[in-house]
Amino acid sequence: MPFSHRSTLTQYLIEQRRRFPSAGGDFNALILDVALACKAIARSVAFGELGHGIGNGNGAPQAAAGGEINVQGEIQKPLDVISNRLFTRMNETGGYCAGMASEEMQGPYQIPAPHPRGKYLLVFDPLDGSSNIDVNVSVGSIFSVLRAPQDAIDSGRDATVDDFLQPGSAQVAAGYALYGPTTMLVLSVGSGVVGFTLDPNLGEFMLTHPGIRVPQDTQEFAINASNSRFWEAPVKRYVDECLAGKTGPRAKDFNMRWIASMVAEAHRILMRGGVFMYPRDTKDLAKPGRLRLLYEANPVGFLIEQAGGRASTGREPVLDVKPTSLHQRVSLVFGSKIEVERIEKYHAEPKQVEYASPLFAARSLFRD
Ligand code: AHG
Ligand code: MN
Ligand code: MN
Repeated sequence: MPFSHRSTLTQYLIEQRRRFPSAGGDFNALILDVALACKAIARSVAFGELGHGIGNGNGAPQAAAGGEINVQGEIQKPLDVISNRLFTRMNETGGYCAGMASEEMQGPYQIPAPHPRGKYLLVFDPLDGSSNIDVNVSVGSIFSVLRAPQDAIDSGRDATVDDFLQPGSAQVAAGYALYGPTTMLVLSVGSGVVGFTLDPNLGEFMLTHPGIRVPQDTQEFAINASNSRFWEAPVKRYVDECLAGKTGPRAKDFNMRWIASMVAEAHRILMRGGVFMYPRDTKDLAKPGRLRLLYEANPVGFLIEQAGGRASTGREPVLDVKPTSLHQRVSLVFGSKIEVERIEKYHAEPKQVEYASPLFAARSLFRD
């Protein structure tokens, strides 16, 4: 391994750059600005209720903000707004970004004058799982780095929506910060996945998890089962087979988890395997899924695939989806490769008109 077990994020990035001598320093500086935003958000999150109205020392706007409805039609929490502002503020001055886009902003964020514009597009979910804030459960920030089109770099023009509509496979880097019992930054610059833990004494992200790999197989799944009546047949089948456990077709027992912060679920899966599903369902036919392609599914998909797992819509690799709008939603299944492939296989099978649940089958409990 080319870096020591306890390098800082900065040292890790410098080491990576040595491997690609043609790379400029802008990319590293951008990641460090993102990390700075995440450190500031970690502090705001850590203040909890105490942060409301008393100032939290990092210059963040106060919690009076929020309560508005965002572009998703969801109520913004004060910390959604604060986190979004910290991301834009920390990344607008360095000259590395050509523009930004976020869950909390309708359109692209333009780098304001007099700051120079750079060659990367930064896309983020500033606070993922924000419904968990009020109950003191882990939340995080998710980010994706894309290259700006050459004409935007050359001219320094405003970023357009079209500039951001790149498939996940075009990502230069992706990562997330997780604000849990410890604050972690998990990152891929396209050569595997590494994890850093924030040392609260030093204020530095220290490399604690080099070479993260998702175990190929698993006995753990995550899905919001309250939507089960809206699921499509392949998903119903997969979950029913997991629930049937040892005596069912899988011949093994499964465990289930649901945190309602996708970033925390992604982290668990990167650490010990598992499969996560937020599939397309019939609850609201106008929505092809719950999660957002550009700043949730793509960065997490990139990390999972870089760690040897698989990320899919159920029908195609999520990183192959060509986006058509900034806030597009998508069906998402990711995690241990063998399980995700099984779910894809169920989707590919000829349409089952009505899936026969084992609970209601001929020899079941509910037979009349
Ligand atoms: P956000 O807080 O950014 O809006 O994202 C929440 C997402 C995701 O993190 C989580 O997996 C999912 O919404 C939770 O959905 P349910 O409310 O259906 O549990
Ligand atoms: Mn989110
Ligand atoms: Mn969010």
